[in-house]
Amino acid sequence: MAWMRAAAGRCGIEALLLGARMRLLTQSQVRDLVRMDVAVSAVEAAFVAHGKGQTQMPPKVYLDFPQHHGDLRAMPAAMGDAVGLKWVNSHPKNPILHNLPSVMGLYVLSDPATALPLAILDATLLTAVRTGAAAAVASVHLSVRHRTLGIVGCGVQADFLVEAHRVCFPEIQVVAADRDPSAAQRVVDRWGGQVGAVGDAAGCDIVCTATPSRTALVGRDAVMPGTHINAMGADAEGKQELDPALLKDGVVFVDDWPQASHSGEINVALHMGLITPDDVTGSVCEVVAGIAPGRPSPEAITIFDSTGLAIQDLALAQAVVAAAVEASVGLQLDLRQ
Ligand SMILES: NC(=O)c1ccc[n+]([C@@H]2O[C@H](COP(=O)([O-])OP(=O)(O)OC[C@H]3O[C@@H](n4cnc5c(N)ncnc54)[C@H](O)[C@@H]3O)[C@@H](O)[C@H]2O)c1
Repeated sequence: MAWMRAAAGRCGIEALLLGARMRLLTQSQVRDLVRMDVAVSAVEAAFVAHGKGQTQMPPKVYLDFPQHHGDLRAMPAAMGDAVGLKWVNSHPKNPILHNLPSVMGLYVLSDPATALPLAILDATLLTAVRTGAAAAVASVHLSVRHRTLGIVGCGVQADFLVEAHRVCFPEIQVVAADRDPSAAQRVVDRWGGQVGAVGDAAGCDIVCTATPSRTALVGRDAVMPGTHINAMGADAEGKQELDPALLKDGVVFVDDWPQASHSGEINVALHMGLITPDDVTGSVCEVVAGIAPGRPSPEAITIFDSTGLAIQDLALAQAVVAAAVEASVGLQLDLRQ
């Protein structure tokens, strides 16, 4: 068809392979197709593009539903010849009240030239994988030692944080901490290592925090010089995991200033006046792109304040859809019929 050839011309081999019909991918299909090493490379490339100012990514839009103990977020992004939107929620009481996951995501990948929908895929696993990958990319670029990995908060994200770090640092040993010891034990049963207190995990070379906490869990004194911290848990206003003294003494890199100042690890300390914007050194994406300095010394404590970028989702969605095309996986539909 003429429009297909035109789309192929505009978007290259991907549009040609996708053909006339949109591809629909379920969570289990995404699980079979997604690979953590591919995710790490895709997220690293997305950080480089964002660091160089080659993306379009307005801050996340939040719709709050306090009566349902949750929110929905729209995360659009454009990068290269790809554009997409993630529509994702956070309803922490879903498992207890409705026997549903607390986070469920949907991704729509479109052709920027025509707006033709190319694929719709489950983005629940996508979110978890790209988040683990983002932490590992930050660790590669900011950490100075990588013998031990402390995980504070052993829920859904924990496995993906460990898996992504093992892609980059195959020998890294895990110390897992959770207020629920059985959650920490589950992580250790899967990945090896040991269960510890929060202070033990915080004493590791690389520390990942992944809890929905609204009070500081990781104390200043627990963290050694030269540590790199990936603060992953705070992704909404009022959330925090680190002692503000760490933000003051450490070298802080955000993924995106508008998002981080609104909803990242720094948001509470900023609003309380415990830190100022001058306490934030810069953007992790510019460090990864090689256009801004990263760790200033081997002794510095570096902190990555991750809120989760729409370009991470776009990069991974593209990779998964390309893998689906290659493997002929997914239901193909023509929505215009
Ligand atoms: N930065 C990002 O891109 C990004 C992406 C996905 C999720 N998140 C955030 O990461 C956090 C974790 O997500 P998840 O899906 O793994 O959640 P989860 O509910 O599956 O797991 C959270 C874990 O933290 C533990 N925990 C809670 N409070 C604790 C405390 N005070 N001390 C020790 N452990 C504690 C819980 O017992 C649980 O095991 C959430 O806040 C989520 O919104 C961020």
